[in-house]
Amino acid sequence: MKDMQFTHKWVLVTGASSGLGLEMATQLAEQHQANLILVARREAQLLALKQDLEQKSGIHCHVIAADLSLAHDVERVYQQATQLADIYGVILNAAVTHFGEHHELAWPDFEKMLALNVTSVVRLLSLFSQYLKEKNQGGGMMVISSMAGLLPIPYQAAYAGTKAFVTNFTQSLALEQHQQNLSLTVFSPGGIDTEMTSNSRLKYFQNTPLLQSVESCASEGIAAMQARKNLAVSGLLNRQQLFVSRFLPRQLIGLITRKAYAQAFN
Ligand SMILES: NC(=O)c1ccc[n+]([C@@H]2O[C@H](COP(=O)([O-])OP(=O)(O)OC[C@H]3O[C@@H](n4cnc5c(N)ncnc54)[C@H](OP(=O)(O)O)[C@@H]3O)[C@@H](O)[C@H]2O)c1
Repeated sequence: MKDMQFTHKWVLVTGASSGLGLEMATQLAEQHQANLILVARREAQLLALKQDLEQKSGIHCHVIAADLSLAHDVERVYQQATQLADIYGVILNAAVTHFGEHHELAWPDFEKMLALNVTSVVRLLSLFSQYLKEKNQGGGMMVISSMAGLLPIPYQAAYAGTKAFVTNFTQSLALEQHQQNLSLTVFSPGGIDTEMTSNSRLKYFQNTPLLQSVESCASEGIAAMQARKNLAVSGLLNRQQLFVSRFLPRQLIGLITRKAYAQAFN
């Protein structure tokens, strides 16, 4: 299949109100002239981004305010988005985490994390991959996972579990659908300098090479989707860590991560 070409095509981005989603939406508009459907809960931020991108880049944007941890909002996003535009690309980026001991995570918050990070991703991948297959225009989808989906991460246990699920699910589905004129990409960053880390107890990692800038991470993500990669890891340091991890017992990797996180929490 040819690389994806986003110019004048419609791309839906979830979690577009901050961080990586906001930056990918901005780069898709400014550098690729893609039209956008922006999805998240904070409507005011999405409307401000729409106005900014439409003015600066001359593209068109729609905003859908939705809580993707709620099943009926997930269905509504699909219905509204497919009525509003002829969609070519979908980036499933919205997610939440919990930094700290697992027992500190209240059960309702765990259920919300599971609903957002896993159930909404599986549902939207299922709906949109069928839609893109029927459109037969060579479209593509990208799921934003994490290095936490590839390695054991103590103090982010629930999150690591959700990201392992979406990584394996998306990679498997991509291989099932290889003849359907659409691509599915898993993009796995390590730490990124966004609200997810700045609002957390992991401030310790800020201004260190352990946190990648959101601009370079977004640019790598878009390139991976465009090239229709099955799995891409962002940042040279993360790719080196992943390479080395292949030769180490997973238990040892978990112990090294546990030490780094324990220091960060002190
Ligand atoms: N930051 C990191 O270190 C890091 C590392 C690896 C992977 N990632 C992954 O990168 C992606 C983006 O994270 P980020 O760092 O950019 O985090 P972020 O700045 O906290 O952004 C998360 C986005 O998800 C949206 N969101 C959260 N809950 C939602 C809900 N219930 N319904 C709809 N939207 C919701 C938020 O918007 P609203 O609050 O407006 O709803 C926001 O736009 C995530 O998949 C994350 O797992 C991040």
